[in-house]
Amino acid sequence: MSSLLRIENLSVFHYSDTERVQILSDVSIHIGTSEVFGVVGESGCGKTMTALSVLRLLPPGMTVEGRVIIRPSESQEIDLLSLPESQLPGIRGKYIGMVFQEPMTSLNPVLSIGSQVSEPLIYHEGLSKKEAIKRAVELLRRVKIPEPEKVVRYYPHQLSGGMRQRVMIAIAISCSPLLLIADEPTTALDVTIQAEILRLLMELQESTGMSILLITHDLSIVAETCQRVAVMYAGRVVEEASVREIFTTPMHPYTRGLLQSLPLQRGKKLNPIPGVVPSPRELPRGCKFSTRCEYRVEECETREPSLQRIKDGHKVRCIRADRI
Ligand SMILES: Nc1ncnc2c1ncn2[C@@H]1O[C@H](COP(=O)(O)OP(=O)(O)OP(=O)(O)O)[C@@H](O)[C@H]1O
Ligand SMILES: [Mg+2]
Repeated sequence: MSSLLRIENLSVFHYSDTERVQILSDVSIHIGTSEVFGVVGESGCGKTMTALSVLRLLPPGMTVEGRVIIRPSESQEIDLLSLPESQLPGIRGKYIGMVFQEPMTSLNPVLSIGSQVSEPLIYHEGLSKKEAIKRAVELLRRVKIPEPEKVVRYYPHQLSGGMRQRVMIAIAISCSPLLLIADEPTTALDVTIQAEILRLLMELQESTGMSILLITHDLSIVAETCQRVAVMYAGRVVEEASVREIFTTPMHPYTRGLLQSLPLQRGKKLNPIPGVVPSPRELPRGCKFSTRCEYRVEECETREPSLQRIKDGHKVRCIRADRI
């Protein structure tokens, strides 16, 4: 499988007057053409910062190291991190579409749905306003919004959360991106709507062949949608494998903890991981998970393990991986 996107040794730092805090450490991930790749982990582990780094949309005060390579074609590679600022708008939207968690804050409340869906088409594809609105109607139909001719004239507050998220998806796919980044696209929605939105994303993936980077804190969503997954903890990838392997032979104690906290088996008690993700300001010295790990030995507290390849396509950052 050829890679569409390669994140290589990505580190992100946050600077203030008094300190430098490392938010991401040496994150490497590659996403294949037409692949649905999941990134999973608890709140604060660095999922959103990873996505924002790819899009060069990190908040002020943050700097980034590493490379993010996109391959629009066999013969073309672009390092997004070294691209001049002026060229970024040409990349966002055209090669990479994005859908974020909050459909209300991501849409502009004072612009009609039609003008928001048509804007990237006017910018990237040079369509006239009239042509773009026509395409906007088609796109709304494509994301299964009923009566799209009417909805183009609506404003965001006239739509439900689920419908607004469909509009966001329509905007994200409007210029046929090669990669869609979806950051917790269903977290703010009711369970039934969540399932519909995920189904829609999967249908669009199949019909367009685009790749998807799906960010979620929910491993059951990963199970339903992704081929491979990276588990993140404290700004690091701690395990990466096919979804099948993550569920059958998880190797990192953190991954096992996430699996045990899933409400899968009826009658079985939920088993949340004790403790919380440490702040990037107060990370333990050795393995960052050691403070919560039931398999911890002395060495874990002094030496941080590297991400080791255990077998083809399966990597884990734990010195005791083969014993658990
Ligand atoms: N604007 C900011 N300034 C400083 N630190 C930040 C900022 N935004 C996020 N962080 C820190 O970066 C770390 C990673 O945050 P990130 O938002 O990537 O987590 P996440 O995995 O997306 O969590 P969630 O599941 O809650 O969305 C956290 O420790 C967070 O406190
Ligand atoms: Mg997030």
